[in-house]
Order: sequence, then structure tokens, then C-alpha cells
Amino acid sequence: MTHYPALRLRRTRAAAWSRRMVAENVLTPADLIWPLFVTGGEAEEPIASLPGVSRWSLAGIVDRAREARDLGIPCIALFPNTPAGLRTDDGREAVNPDNLMCRAIRAIKDAVPEVGVLTDVALDPYTSHGHDGIVDGAGYVLNDITSEILTRQALVQAEAGADIVAPSDMMDGRVGQIREALEAGGHVNVQIMAYAAKYASGFYGPFRDAVGSRGLLKGDKKTYQMDPANAEEALREVALDLAEGADSVMVKPGLPYLDIIVRVKNAFEVPVFAYQVSGEYAMIEAAAAVGAGDRDTLVLETLMAFKRAGTSGVLTYHAPLAARLMGA
Ligand code: PBG
Repeated sequence: MTHYPALRLRRTRAAAWSRRMVAENVLTPADLIWPLFVTGGEAEEPIASLPGVSRWSLAGIVDRAREARDLGIPCIALFPNTPAGLRTDDGREAVNPDNLMCRAIRAIKDAVPEVGVLTDVALDPYTSHGHDGIVDGAGYVLNDITSEILTRQALVQAEAGADIVAPSDMMDGRVGQIREALEAGGHVNVQIMAYAAKYASGFYGPFRDAVGSRGLLKGDKKTYQMDPANAEEALREVALDLAEGADSVMVKPGLPYLDIIVRVKNAFEVPVFAYQVSGEYAMIEAAAAVGAGDRDTLVLETLMAFKRAGTSGVLTYHAPLAARLMGA
């Protein structure tokens, strides 16, 4: 007797039109946020550990914003490489209304106002020790003093025209403080995207090269960023940030933490973003460079994984490539 399968799941996979018809998720350029690095210099500065990614001058960053607009990428995320001479113990350059970050925001909002600008709120590109906040004599990052400076930093960025401020520092209570200051300052429509579940990760190395903090960083960030062993704690972080007024939350890094994305999305019906971080980008580039995988396929497959997990969008250095692959 011939045995026929009761149902052939391969039937709907047999032709491209059919695969398209039954696809549960579709990627579009609107799923992308493009992280960009700014330098005070005039020339493009390639970043060795992040092949294909550069720091851009103010003119260059405005061109990238135009590129994002033309590709249908809704939002760009900015990170400054502060000149070494302006890095101090207290990171005071972070609250200078004329710092590189604020100049970049203003230049972009003047030239390409229709692209969203997301800014990083943390002190690591501004401190001489590479930590995200103020450290005491023992190297411990002090929570409440740091939150006060971060609040001023967020305000300065909002005044320069930032559309979304994104605290990436993991201090307790800073989202509420920032929300209150934004309201009091009249910035009622400036959003907060909280780096809510940010892990103390080995995948941030190339980013620290890009913002020039790798060589400076003393110790690690384990007293403020989360332990990769924990998942329930991520839900507590998200609950707190939402209660304090976050409009959306982020999970970071991305691929190693897909389980966290799913749990956050299931527990809270809010926009969840993932940051596919620098080390993840470098891993894909390294695989492609040695012929271990096809870059375009790897990029789109990983982005689809985030979408399937429930994200509203992904911060990825592959954003312009991905948008082009999506037909932009
Ligand atoms: C710093 C910050 C980091 C990243 C974004 N904001 C690095 C860190 O916490 O050390 C990492 C992003 C990446 O690796 O692409 N506040």
C-alpha cells in the first residue's frame, strides 16, 4: 500500500508566488533605523573593526540623512566621536549645547527635516574613563548624579531638534527624570526610546572603536548593564521604563537575545526595537569575507528573525544595504 502524507506542507512552498502569498512577515525599509557616527573632522574615517562603516563629517552625515530618506529609512541614530581633548572625568561636553552631537542634529534637521533623528543619551563618548556615567574613587558608576547629567544631556539634544532621545546608560530612574524635564521644557512630542534591556555584552567592541572609548574604558560595565544570565530582570527593566514614560523599548544586543524580545513583546503591548549591535555586524561581515555565508542572505535572514520575534524595527549598520535589498 502506498502511503500518502495526510498533508504536504511542501505544497505551499513549491513556487515563489505561493511562498510570497503565505509569508507571515514582510520586511520593509520602515523596519530600519540606521546608526551613524559623527566626527569633527572633514574627511570620512573608516572604522577598521567595522568594515564598510565610517565616521562622517557634518556635511557627510547630512548626506547620509538624505540617503536614508531616499531609501525610505524613517530614522537615523547618532553617535559622536568626541575629540580626545574634550573628554573629562565628568563628561561635561555631553551637556554643551554646541557639542558635535547637537551640531549634527541641527545640520540634519535643517537639511532633511523629514528624517527622524534618534540620539544616544549616555556619557561614554564624553568621559575620559569610557564609562556611561560619573565614577567614584573605586570606579563604581554613581546612579543619581549620573541621571541628573543625563537629563541635562537629553534636554540639550531635544533643544537641538532630536526627535527621539534614547538613554543607553542603564541608570535606575533616569527615564522618569528625562520625561519630566522634557515636559517642563515644552518638548512634549519628543519621544523616549529606552534601552530597557541592555546587556553587558562582548558584542560592543567595534562600537567602542567607533566612538573612541575602547582604549579608555577601565574595567567593564557589569554594575549597570544586565547579566546575560537573566530574563525576568529584563521584564522588570521594561516595566519600570514604561511606567516612567518610555514610548518604546529596546533590547540589545539583538540576535543572542531574541528570547527576550519575544517575552517583552508578549508581556507588554508596546513598540519593541532591537539593536543588532556592532559585533553582530562584524560577525556577518567576517563570515561573508571568508565565504562562510552570503552577506545579503545573512542580512535579510537576521532582520526577518527580528520581525518574526515581534520587533517594530531594528537598529542595524546594514540598514542602507538592507533597504536596497528590499527594493528601495
Ligand atoms: C553606550 C552604547 C554602546 C552601544 C550603544 N550605546 C556601547 C556600550 O554600552 O559600551 C553599543 C552599540 C553597538 O555595539 O553597536 N552607551
